[in-house]
Amino acid sequence: MLINSRAVALLLAVSVAAITTAFLSLVEGINTFALLVAGCLSFASCFILTFITLEFLIFREIKNLYQAIDEINREDFKAAAELLGKYETSSNPLKRANQQIMAYALQKQSEIEELKKMEAFRREFIADVSHELKTPLFAAQGFVLTLLDGAIDDETVRHKFLKKAARSLDGLSMLVQDLLTLTQLESGQITMQFEDFDICQLTEHVFEQLEEKAAKRGIALLIENAAGEKLRVYADYNRIGQVMTNLVSNAIKYGNEGGHVRVIFMSDAQYVQIAVADDGPGIPREHQRRIFERFYRIEKSRSRKQGGSGLGLAIVKHILEKHHTDIALHSEVGVGTTFTFRLPKSGAQLLAAS
Ligand SMILES: Nc1ncnc2c1ncn2[C@@H]1O[C@H](COP(=O)(O)OP(=O)(O)OP(=O)(O)O)[C@@H](O)[C@H]1O
Ligand SMILES: [Mg+2]
Repeated sequence: MLINSRAVALLLAVSVAAITTAFLSLVEGINTFALLVAGCLSFASCFILTFITLEFLIFREIKNLYQAIDEINREDFKAAAELLGKYETSSNPLKRANQQIMAYALQKQSEIEELKKMEAFRREFIADVSHELKTPLFAAQGFVLTLLDGAIDDETVRHKFLKKAARSLDGLSMLVQDLLTLTQLESGQITMQFEDFDICQLTEHVFEQLEEKAAKRGIALLIENAAGEKLRVYADYNRIGQVMTNLVSNAIKYGNEGGHVRVIFMSDAQYVQIAVADDGPGIPREHQRRIFERFYRIEKSRSRKQGGSGLGLAIVKHILEKHHTDIALHSEVGVGTTFTFRLPKSGAQLLAAS
């Protein structure tokens, strides 16, 4: 039943009039007309007084409260109330307003917590970026200043220092490029250009680019395709190339010297599963969860010496997310590491696009 000022006033007035008339009827000698007048008078006065009190002192204030709520943000309130499933559950307007305000406060609280988390993340990110930029920048600066201080006249070191400065600046430019890619992937500025291509062929191209690096460490690069047939997938050629390059170059960088890096393909009716496996030192369990975070490296000094910024796997994860697929990591210390993901086969485009 909907409670409003008129209904409450009516109920109260009827009760007061009934009680008054009942008591008066006990008085000896009172006639019906007098009873009727007393009943009507008590009904009318009680109704008017109660109605005015409720309408102007309570319900009007509640209406104002609702208007204020609406002005703050109608959508926010609706969402908050729906979230709690308490939207207009009570017929009591005060209780209803209380519920909505509680729901709104809860929603705002969770928004504030989210903002605080984002703020902490932003601060951490800026600290990480500055730290990562500082290293190659200071190194290049050091070489240039040494040259300016006189080393430029020494023919034996001139060339060496310039080369070192150039290498530091190359690292810096790669880092900035990676950061830019990551930001663009996150903000949706980079969209995937889906097409049909042969994933085995793409892997061969990646191997060609990295074979010198692998040879330096005596690492053999192998492709294992159980099906023995061409495996055409529906994905973004360049971005998947980037994923494969990151994973294979990690396997070369962090694998054991003289070891093997295998790219293993398996397929079913709809998907091709791609695994990049090495027989290197493996990734300890406590690091496995965090390995895809930006700037996260297991052994910072070793990784930096090898030119790593810790952004490679974060980019891999983002690219695969855009392909609606996950990357799985299986690693055992002393045995090796395998990264696995899957892509839809050509002809299963609808799955990729959905
Ligand atoms: N196959 C692997 N075996 C052992 N450790 C690995 C392997 N792949 C990655 N890691 C560890 O994970 C860390 C993060 O890898 P990621 O590719 O994100 O960064 P990076 O290789 O250091 O730098 P970048 O890829 O940006 O050049 C590496 O620093 C390394 O410690
Ligand atoms: Mg890497």
